[in-house]
Amino acid sequence: MGWGVPVAMLGQIYTMWAGRGLPIAASWPYRANSVCWNVGNHTGAAQAGAGPVGEIRADCGMICAQAKPFSFRTEAHMTTEERLQALYAKMEELSTRSVGYPVNQDFDYSELLPFMKFSINNVGDPFHESNFRMNTHEFEREVVGTFSDLMRIPRDDSWGYVTSGGTEGNMYGLYLARALFPDGIVYYSEDTHYSVVKIMSLINARNIMVKSQNNGEVDYDDLYEAVRVNRDAPAIVVTNIGTTMKGAVDDVHKVRDILDDLAVNRLYIHADAALSGMILPFVDEPQAYGFDSGIDSIAVSGHKMIGSPVPCGVALTKREYVARVSRSVEYVGVLDTTLTGSRSALAPLIVWYALRKHGLDGYGRIVARCLETAEYAVTRFNDSGIPAWRNRNSVTVVFPRPSEEVVHRWSIAPYEDIAHLIAMPNVSREQIDAVVDDCLR
Ligand SMILES: Cc1ncc(COP(=O)(O)O)c(C=O)c1O
Repeated sequence: MGWGVPVAMLGQIYTMWAGRGLPIAASWPYRANSVCWNVGNHTGAAQAGAGPVGEIRADCGMICAQAKPFSFRTEAHMTTEERLQALYAKMEELSTRSVGYPVNQDFDYSELLPFMKFSINNVGDPFHESNFRMNTHEFEREVVGTFSDLMRIPRDDSWGYVTSGGTEGNMYGLYLARALFPDGIVYYSEDTHYSVVKIMSLINARNIMVKSQNNGEVDYDDLYEAVRVNRDAPAIVVTNIGTTMKGAVDDVHKVRDILDDLAVNRLYIHADAALSGMILPFVDEPQAYGFDSGIDSIAVSGHKMIGSPVPCGVALTKREYVARVSRSVEYVGVLDTTLTGSRSALAPLIVWYALRKHGLDGYGRIVARCLETAEYAVTRFNDSGIPAWRNRNSVTVVFPRPSEEVVHRWSIAPYEDIAHLIAMPNVSREQIDAVVDDCLR
C-alpha cells in the first residue's frame, strides 16, 4: 500500500469532520494533482488557491480542477455566495443535457420576480372568498377557465385548482371518486404512474392492476375481465392520457364501452394527462382525452409542457362533485375543497403568465415543433440501426436502454430494457444527433 491510500483516508476523515456529517461530493482519492471535483467543491478549491477554473468534463459533467493536497474546502466552509454560484453553474450545465424528462425549460419568468417579495398564499377554494387576501385566486380562476376550454367542459360546469403537481392532481381525482363511491374498486394499468399505487394505500381503496399492451396502452380484454368479475362494485378507472414511459394514450371510449357492456352504471373515470394533456388539445386528430369523452376528472402537470420552473399542475373536475367534499373553515374564511391547505400563489401566476405569453396558438406551434422533433429522433435512431418508436401524438421516443454512461450524461429515463427521450421544446435536433452518436459509441 503506497501513501495514496492513507492520505485519501485522512482526507475523507477530515472531510466528514469539517462537513459535520454533511454529504461531501468531492472526488477522492486526493493524491493526484488533477482531480475531478464536482461543481459544488470546485469553487472551494479555487478559493483555496487550488488553481484556475477547469473545463467541465464532457464525460462525467464534472469540473476538473488543479488541487493541492490538503487545500480542501468543503461545502460547510463556502460562503453563501459561493454555494449559490456553484449551484447555478451546476444547473446551467446540467440543463444543456437534459433530454430524458418531460420538462419544458424554454421560458423566462423574470417579469414575475418582483412577486417573490410577498408572502402570497392561495389557501382555500380559488372560487371562494378568503380572509387571506394576499393571493392570486383571480389568476388561478383564469387558468382553470382556460383548462376547462382545453379539456372540453363548459366553464360553468367545471371546477379546479392549481396543484403541486401531477401526483396531487391524481390524488384529487381519486379522492373525489372515493367520496362519491366509497365501495368502488380502482382499476389502473401496469403502465400507470407510480403515484396511483401510492394513492391507493393513502385512500385505502380496493384496487386492481390490469395488464398493459406492448405500446403501453391498457389491455382492454384484461380490463373487461377484471371489471366483469367485480361488476357488483362501482368502477373507478384511471385512464392514462400519455403514460410516463411510452406516452401511450388509453382509449377512453373503449373503457366506457366496456363499462356499458357490463352494465356498470356506478362509475368514475379519472384521466392522468400529466404530459399529453397539453399535447392532445393542439393536434389535428387527438385520441379521446376530455370531458366530452366521458371522463370525470383530469390531472395535467404545469412543469411539463407548460414550462413552469416550479412543480405544479392543474386538477379539473365537475363542479357538482366538489360539493361532496367541501366544508368551510372559519378562521381563514375559506371553503376547504383542495387537498392541501396553504397552496402556492406563485404557481398559478406562472401558469397564467405562460398561457398569456404563448396563447393557445403559441402552444399549438410549440407542440407541432415537438412532434416534428420526436419524429426526427425516431428516424435518426432507426437510420443508425437503433430500433426506436413512439406512440401516435406522443413526444416520447422509446429506444433500447443505452449504457449507464449515456443514461447519466443525458439524464435519460431508463426502465428495465428500454429508455426514452422526450422531445420537449428545449430539445434540439443537435442534441438528438449527439445522443444517437453517444448510443453508437
Ligand atoms: C403520467 C404521469 N402521471 C403523473 C406524474 C406525476 O407527476 P408529478 O411528478 O408532477 O407529481 C407523472 C410524472 O412524470 C407522469 O408521467
